[in-house]
Amino acid sequence: MPTDPNNEQPRQLRLLMVCLGNICRSPSAQGVFEKKVAEHAASQQAGISYDIDSAGTAAFHIGKAPDRRSVSAASNRGIDISHQQARQVEEDDFYNFDYIFAMDKQNFEALKVLQPSSAKATLALLLDYAEVAHEDSSVPDPYYSGEQGFELVLDLLDSACESILLKIATHPSEC
Ligand code: 4NP
Repeated sequence: MPTDPNNEQPRQLRLLMVCLGNICRSPSAQGVFEKKVAEHAASQQAGISYDIDSAGTAAFHIGKAPDRRSVSAASNRGIDISHQQARQVEEDDFYNFDYIFAMDKQNFEALKVLQPSSAKATLALLLDYAEVAHEDSSVPDPYYSGEQGFELVLDLLDSACESILLKIATHPSEC
């Protein structure tokens, strides 16, 4: 059990999902991960609770709800992301979160530039960390794509979030 041996309190892991606009991929990643946590008894057995948030590296859509195509595709899979509101990544995120997961290489590079040297958060490409194979280790930007692009995003996120939860449940002391 990943409890603190001194006080036996359950641990909380704080995860931040990051894409460019924070209206398509990262809100979807937050929704997918939250649903998996709710479904997975294994993660509860590991004594870990989760706080999941999302943000964008760009400022274009601050304050907006997720893209209606992401809301609709997620809703078809029983995931409600409609209440989320876009925000931009800030320096404090590197101290407030345990993991910051970038949706693609471009945003990973942007985050590396923002990352303070004393950051607490582990910065990783979501698909690399989850060892989910896809071109360039990136969740493709669906913004200019058709419906298929939004389905692919959810397929990749489903697989990656499942894999991350399993990793945490089986190796909690490494997280
Ligand atoms: P996201 O998708 O990074 O997955 O939220 C995008 C949303 C908006 C834009 C680009 C990507 N945009 O250019 O406005």
